[in-house]
Amino acid sequence: MSSNDRVIIFDTTLRDGEQSPGASMTGEEKLRIAKALERLKVDVIEAGFAIASPGDFAAVKAIADSIKDSTVCSLSRALDADIDRAAEALKGANSGRIHTFIATSPIHMQYKLRMQPDQVVEQAVHAIKRARNLCSDVEFSCEDAGRSEIDFLCRIVEAAINAGARTINIPDTVGYAIPHQYAETIRQLLNRVPNADKAVFSVHCHNDLGLAVANSLAAVVAGARQVECTINGLGERAGNAALEEIVMAIKTREDLLGVHTRIDTPHILSTSRLVSGITGFPVQPNKAIVGANAFAHESGIHQDGVLKHRETYEIMSAQSVGWHTNKLSLGKLSGRNAFRSRLDELGIVLAGEAELNAAFARFKDLADKKQEIFDEDLQALVSDTLAEEAPEHFKLITLEVASKTGEVPQAQVVVSVDGAERSAEAQGSGPVDATFRAIEAIASSEASLQLYSVNAITQGTDSQGEVTVRLEKGGRIVNGNGADTDILVASAKAYINALNLMQAGQKAHPQAADV
Ligand code: KIV
Ligand code: ZN
Repeated sequence: MSSNDRVIIFDTTLRDGEQSPGASMTGEEKLRIAKALERLKVDVIEAGFAIASPGDFAAVKAIADSIKDSTVCSLSRALDADIDRAAEALKGANSGRIHTFIATSPIHMQYKLRMQPDQVVEQAVHAIKRARNLCSDVEFSCEDAGRSEIDFLCRIVEAAINAGARTINIPDTVGYAIPHQYAETIRQLLNRVPNADKAVFSVHCHNDLGLAVANSLAAVVAGARQVECTINGLGERAGNAALEEIVMAIKTREDLLGVHTRIDTPHILSTSRLVSGITGFPVQPNKAIVGANAFAHESGIHQDGVLKHRETYEIMSAQSVGWHTNKLSLGKLSGRNAFRSRLDELGIVLAGEAELNAAFARFKDLADKKQEIFDEDLQALVSDTLAEEAPEHFKLITLEVASKTGEVPQAQVVVSVDGAERSAEAQGSGPVDATFRAIEAIASSEASLQLYSVNAITQGTDSQGEVTVRLEKGGRIVNGNGADTDILVASAKAYINALNLMQAGQKAHPQAADV
C-alpha cells in the first residue's frame, strides 16, 4: 500500500473527550491514558488545551515530555496567547503539533465571533503563521465546518495552507452532517482548493445524530486521510467518533475502503477499560467492539454456527481487539518485582517508590480476598491508590452496614474531614442508600445524585466491583469512582471521590470562550 492509503489516527480523548460533563481527569490519569494511546500506536495524541488552566498546561507538558512514538498536540484558539502557551507546553516533545481553530459558519461568525468573514480569514492566517514560527507541524480547524458555506470553506482552507497549515480539519462540530453530504464537502474541497495537495485533510465528527463514525468513514472514502476520534466515543454532548469503531471498520473492510491504520488493535480493549475506569463512564454492554456482549453469542443457532466455523457469525476475531487475552496477572505469592514489571508491561508508571509501595500493599490486601488477580484488577487498584494519595478533603475511614430481610438497612460511617474524624449513621431504602445518606450527614454537600452504577471488573463473584457515582451541584457535574471486592465499600469510596472532585476547581471550556 502507498503512504496515501494510510489513515492517520488522531485521538482527542484527552481534550474533546474530557469535555464530556463529568469526565475531567487528573494530570497523572491523562499521562496514563497517553501512554496507553502510544502503546496502541495512535499517530497524534491531542493532550489538551494548554491555555485552559495551569493544570491543562502541566498535563500537556508532561505528556509532551514523556511520549516518544506519537505526535503530541495542543489545541489553541486563533489567538496569540493561546498559540504561545501551546508552543511552550510542547517544547519538550519529540514531535509536537499546534492545533489552532476558528469558526467559519455564518451562525458562529455572526453571533459568537461577531466578525466578518474577511476578518476571520485574516485572523486564521495570522494565527497559523505565528504557530508555524514556533512549531513546524500546524493543524487548522474550521470550527462548525459542517454548517459552513462551501465557497467560504474553499477560500479559508486555501489561505490556511498558504499560511503553513499542514493538516486541514473539517469538523462537524454540532453533529449535523449526513454521510453522503459530508463526503461531498470533502470531495469539493479536495477538487476545488488549488493547493489541496499540500495538506492532509482531516475529519472530526460529533455524534449528535449517531452518525459520527459513518460520516468519518464516508469522508475517508472521499479522500480524507486523518480521522479525529476518541476512545469509547467519549466527547462533548453525544460524543465523538469512536476510535475503536473507526479502526476496526477500516481493518475489517479493507477490501472495500482500501486504506489502513497503524493501530495495534489487540490493545484496544485494555485502553477502552482504562478510559472507562478513569472517567467513570461505563461502556454499554452492546457497544460495538468493546461492549461486554460484542462477541457474546446468545442464540443457540449462532452458538452452534460459531463453534463449527467462527466466521459464520463473527466478522472479526475477539482476540484481534484484545478479548480473551486476559491473562492471570499475578497471585498471592507474587513479589514486589513481579508486581512492578507487570505494571510496566501494562504501561502503568508510578511516580516513585512511595507510590509503588502503597500500590503493592493494596495488591497484597486484594490478593488475600481474591485468588486470581487480572490486569483489570491492577488498573483499578492503581487508580484507587493514586486517588487516595491525592490531597483529599474527605476520606473514608470505616463503614459498617446492617441489612436484614424485613428490616430497614442501616449504615454507620466514619469519615475524616481535613484530618478530623467524624461519624454518622443513617437508614435508607437499601444499604447503598443508607451509606450515601450517612456520608451526606457529614458532608452536607447538597449535591444531587445523578447516576449510580456498579460494574464487575472481572468475572466471578469474587470480582472487584467498580462503582461510579455522578453528582451535580449548581450545573457542575463530577464522576467519582471506587473499586473494592465489597461493593458497599466501593460505593462509599466512589461517593467520597465525587465529593472531593466537587471541591476541586473547574477550568475554561475551549469552545465556550470568545475568540
Ligand atoms: O468539534 C470541534 O469543532 C472541535 C474543534 C476545536 C476541532 O472540537
Ligand atoms: Zn469537537
